[in-house]
Amino acid sequence: MGIVIKNGKVLQDGELVPRDILIIDKVISKVAEQIDSQGHKEIDVKGKWVSAGFIDMHVHLREPGYEAKETIATGTAAAARGGFTAIACMPNTKPVTDRVEVVKYIKEKAQREGVVRVLPIGAITIRELGEELTDMAAMKECGIIGVSDDGVGVQSSRMMKEGMRRAAKAGLPVIAHCEDETLAKGGSIHEGTFSAKHGLRGIPNEAEAIHVARDILLAEATGAHYHVCHISAEQSVRHVRYAKEKGIKVTTEVCPHHLILTDEDIPANLDSNFKMNPPLRSSEDRAALIEALKDGTIDIIVTDHAPHTEEEKKRGLALAPFGIVGLETAFPLLYTHLVLTGDFTLEEIVSKMTSKPAELFGLPWGRLEEGAIADLTVVDLETEREVNPLEFASKGKNTPFTGWKLKGWPMMTMVDGSIVWKREEVLKTV
Ligand code: DOR
Ligand code: ZN
Ligand code: ZN
Repeated sequence: MGIVIKNGKVLQDGELVPRDILIIDKVISKVAEQIDSQGHKEIDVKGKWVSAGFIDMHVHLREPGYEAKETIATGTAAAARGGFTAIACMPNTKPVTDRVEVVKYIKEKAQREGVVRVLPIGAITIRELGEELTDMAAMKECGIIGVSDDGVGVQSSRMMKEGMRRAAKAGLPVIAHCEDETLAKGGSIHEGTFSAKHGLRGIPNEAEAIHVARDILLAEATGAHYHVCHISAEQSVRHVRYAKEKGIKVTTEVCPHHLILTDEDIPANLDSNFKMNPPLRSSEDRAALIEALKDGTIDIIVTDHAPHTEEEKKRGLALAPFGIVGLETAFPLLYTHLVLTGDFTLEEIVSKMTSKPAELFGLPWGRLEEGAIADLTVVDLETEREVNPLEFASKGKNTPFTGWKLKGWPMMTMVDGSIVWKREEVLKTV
């Protein structure tokens, strides 16, 4: 017996067209205008959009070590609620994911307690200290999909060059958090008019762009696939555009918050839910990111889901840790503030959360077509709902979007042909 998703709409040549979808043995076996559901389980999605499951290449699941912030169980539940069917998790755990044992721990936990696919990322350097390279090849054998010291930039150019050489040899992308500490240290928000007005130490654009420029040269020299994390500054975009023109293997990602907010949106009370690294930048930077996403300089959209406890975030802007949650609001934010505004088509946005990340990282998901693995997301593009962190499955409630009215909420998420989450009040499963 299979499953027929009845009365859905799918994107075809930029249009939403009515389709039924038949799933047999975890695979999409047929997509057609009418499929007889006799002998199969039927799920009536009542005109909702059915997409390939979203893929997020930048998530902090916090396990092992920081279970008060998030666990693999709660983080993957949050991913499912956000329509994500596969997420890559960053190695700044405790212990750091810098060896085979930790990779195995994450994989086993994800197998037992996770509801979506978890793709571990290994560290570039041991304990992310920037001093000694990890055994990338061994971690790759265990299933890591890339290496990163996310949370900190690799300060030494020499270490980064050797890291890229080793990663290239192992066939792994280097997923780089770009931050020159000599420029960034002590800052909590963007260095600009807002920081000056409030007398706060800022993080300048160059802190990011210097690493991007340096690493592009190192990628050219080593042949590594260099992927820039959470790009935020206009100067970084400029360098990536130039490198791509030169044929250097560089790709990049951007977060919804950097596409939607600027430092001027930080409230007067300096709410630390607006503090993340890299920080919210200027409106010129935001415009450069939108343009770069449009012309393909920026390849994919990620959340940088970074849960922290309420106690930690209450410490005030200067002392609170960097990071905001993102999994459960990403698509509604993008749909409401980039698609409904006419800046992007639905297809442009969703490809950067499905087929593009799959293509970049060689993953077998991200497409809704006959023969594809049944990782799917059903989305309601009509109903407006308010962001309420108390409803999040994530332990992290640290969002700057509380109370925002958004459309484009996921309704049901299916991984490998099984429903892993659905919004009970909307979809009645027969
Ligand atoms: O805002 C951030 N939070 N940026 C990072 O690079 C690290 C992350 C975290 O781990 O909390
Ligand atoms: Zn980072
Ligand atoms: Zn991160």
